Amino acid sequence: MARVELRGLAKAYDDVPAVIDLNLEVNDKEFVVLLGPSGCGKTTTLRCIAGLEEPSAGEIYIGDRLVNDLDPKQRNVAMVFQSYALYPHMTVYKNIAFPLENAKVPEREIVVRVNRVARLLQIEGLLDRKPSQLSGGQRQRVALGRAIVREPQVFLMDEPLSNLDAKLRVHMRAELKKLQKDLGVTTIYVTHDQVEAMTMAHRVALLNKGMLQQYDGPRSLYSHPANEFTAAFIGSPPINLIDCDLDARGQLDAADFRIDVPGQFAGALPGSSGGPLTLGIRPQDVRVSPTEPAEAGCIAAEIYTTEPLGDSTILDLKVGDKLIKAVAGSTFEGDAGSTVWIRFAPERIHLFDRTTGRAID
Ligand SMILES: Nc1ncnc2c1ncn2[C@@H]1O[C@H](COP(=O)(O)OP(=O)(O)O)[C@@H](O)[C@H]1O
Ligand SMILES: [Mg+2]
Repeated sequence: MARVELRGLAKAYDDVPAVIDLNLEVNDKEFVVLLGPSGCGKTTTLRCIAGLEEPSAGEIYIGDRLVNDLDPKQRNVAMVFQSYALYPHMTVYKNIAFPLENAKVPEREIVVRVNRVARLLQIEGLLDRKPSQLSGGQRQRVALGRAIVREPQVFLMDEPLSNLDAKLRVHMRAELKKLQKDLGVTTIYVTHDQVEAMTMAHRVALLNKGMLQQYDGPRSLYSHPANEFTAAFIGSPPINLIDCDLDARGQLDAADFRIDVPGQFAGALPGSSGGPLTLGIRPQDVRVSPTEPAEAGCIAAEIYTTEPLGDSTILDLKVGDKLIKAVAGSTFEGDAGSTVWIRFAPERIHLFDRTTGRAID
């Protein structure tokens, strides 16, 4: 049983901030992913929780204990690194047993626990091998085994799958998720891969430049981004972000086209600053028709490129000077240069205050 809480966590290296005023609560048994671009402070945060790095400010609680002054060993957390960090001269058995031997666990108990973990990870047949005799996926399992065998209160994982090839990564993603659920151990998992984050996490903490952007379930992050950064970081192909202003007629004017303000903003917009806006629409929410539909709010666009993906077709469409991405069906046909009509699903339109980047809602 362990919840983890960060209160006002900050870390600077030589006055350069890496993590800024981070507040985060992770529930017992929860799987939380720290997500964000390279250099946003994910590893630093994890190392502070593990006790490998001393915070410049703030408090870290693990299971209601303030752990700031505790050694890594006393924190009862196990960390899994990207680089596995296995001992090359030791067998798989010894690698997994090592943390227990270190903790002076009696030999007989070690045998039981290592074998149990090996069974769980389906590596019983590999216990006599050296790491060099293992595939990448097997090595990763051994690294996990070494973390699990300690039966820690919290798992901390730093991009543990990023050294694996794409197919194995997808497989291990599902396995890790199931393992975490079965073990019921609170887990904080770092990745820069949004798909990994979205598929594995109960909640995702999205960071940028050391600052928490949004902390939410994967669906909310996708459907209700709190700001432009979140909108742009989550989703593939990336969301279309288009500069626009509220014009005198009460429409959204994007220079190359105008559309009505969607109903969900009717209350919020007049009261906003009246400053510049950004319209966000995901490529999946851009409807494309080869002929001009009767409904209002359609925009003529020219096909720039098409990318057939098998299950769908990604279109780059030109509207004046703008390029707008759309996802059409697998059977979509259209030549570059020809005209199509697009419509933004109004209930899926996002609006941001362009000055602050904050979502208007
Ligand atoms: N030991 C260190 N000394 C100086 N700067 C560091 C050190 N570790 C990390 N940083 C800096 O802190 C910022 C956050 O790094 P990090 O936490 O590793 O990011 P991430 O894991 O999200 O890629 C980066 O700007 C990085 O250069
Ligand atoms: Mg990192």
